[in-house]
Formats: sequence, structure tokens, C-alpha cells
Amino acid sequence: MSRKPIIAGNWKMNKTVSESEAFVEAVKNNIPSRDLVDTVIAAPALLLAPMNTLRQGTDLQLSAENAYFENAGAFTGETSPAAVADLGIEYIVIGHSERREYFHETDEDINKKAKAIIANGVTPIICCGETLETYEAGKTAEWVEGQITAALKELTPEQVSNLVIAYEPIWAIGTGKSADANTADETCGVVRTTVEKLYGKAVSEAVRIQYGGSVKPENIAEYMAKENVDGALVGGAALEVDSFLALLDFVK
Ligand code: G3H
Repeated sequence: MSRKPIIAGNWKMNKTVSESEAFVEAVKNNIPSRDLVDTVIAAPALLLAPMNTLRQGTDLQLSAENAYFENAGAFTGETSPAAVADLGIEYIVIGHSERREYFHETDEDINKKAKAIIANGVTPIICCGETLETYEAGKTAEWVEGQITAALKELTPEQVSNLVIAYEPIWAIGTGKSADANTADETCGVVRTTVEKLYGKAVSEAVRIQYGGSVKPENIAEYMAKENVDGALVGGAALEVDSFLALLDFVK
């Protein structure tokens, strides 16, 4: 089954509003057709509304980097998934390892967020991945299976078919040490098998799985050539215009 590739830059806590506007202006008319690839920038919440205005009518898609699991209420400092949906933003990243580590997000939080995001008609990009310690102990598969099983709890087959999962080994994030393409493919395969066990073959063949961790223009094609890798979640190499656009060269 052929799945449409999805390349997402994750800016993390980088860029000001004016920097983000200049970036969108520079890339927005150079993005391949969304019939061929979904090209996404995940940006801090404050940047999304102006970026959204500038990208209208183009193939550039947007994502929030996080959202809360309630739509409104006394939750100071949080981002409402309903507010993200109201802008027409397509994706929300959840469960990034930095959120899990620094902001103590649990598997249960991530499952609640997935449900709230889907209920608002937005697509979650659900992150999973193991620490170096877990990797070296040979426990990556069971760790990732546990994270995915918890994140998908009580979702329907149709909901799971349409979401995106990003496998990011924590030891490869921002370190320059990427998992090689075979290792990335193997663990993305574990994610797919987990989905198959929970939801059956058709859903596992539909769900899109990204690899993330030191992906750059020089190595993205190797990952994209792999059976179980449908895209990339890219940090550092998505921060500069030329590098971001070069990530898309594999499509040509
Ligand atoms: O979300 C993106 C990842 O954390 C990967 O970051 O490409 O800088 O290693 P990186």
C-alpha cells in the first residue's frame, strides 16, 4: 500500500513571529504539491496565527507542537486544541520526548490529548521513542510497543488509520547521531506491528509513521526509501530555509 509521505519540521522553541513570517514567505511557493507529499511546519503556538494567514492558498501545512486535552477553562498557559482547529491548522504534535521529560507528560496525558485533538478534527502526530539506556539494554521494541499501546487506547480503527506516529530515539535527537536507516525501519516496523496487533492489517497499512532524530537533507532519502518509514520529523535541519526546502528534494 502506498502511503503519502509526510515531512514535518519541528521548530521547538525557536523563532520569533517576525522570523517565522519571513520563513513562510521564503518557502511557501516552493513546497511540492500536497498531492505528492504533506509538508508541515510545527511551530510554537504564538507563531501559528500569523503563519497561517501567510500560508493560505499554498501547499504549506502547519502544526502546533502541543495542546491540552480540554478545549477551554481555567488552565493557565495551555493551548486549546479547539483554538488550533479554529485556525484550520492541520496537525498537533503530542508526546514529544522533550514534553515527556521536561514537562512530565504521561502516556495517559498523551492518550487524552490524542482523543481531544481528533474530536476537534485535527490530526495528531504522536511521538514515541526510547532513551539510550533502553536502546543499549535491547528493550526498544517493548518500550515503543508500550508507548503506542497507551497512546492509542480507546481510539477507533478509523481514527488510528488517519493519524501519524513519529518514532524518535531520544539518543538521536539533536545529537547528530541518527539511527541508521535499517534501525529506523526496524523500529518503525515495530510501531506498525503494534498497530496491527491492536487494530488489524488494514489499519497498520494505512497509518503513517515518521522517523525523527538528526534527519537532514543529506540522509533523508535513505530513510524515505525504507518500507516502514513514511516521513520525517525534523528539528535542527528545519530551521533554515535552504535546508528545510532541501529536505523535500527526494520528492522530485
Ligand atoms: O522533533 C524533532 C526531533 O526532536 C528531531 O530533532 O532533527 O534536531 O535531531 P533533530
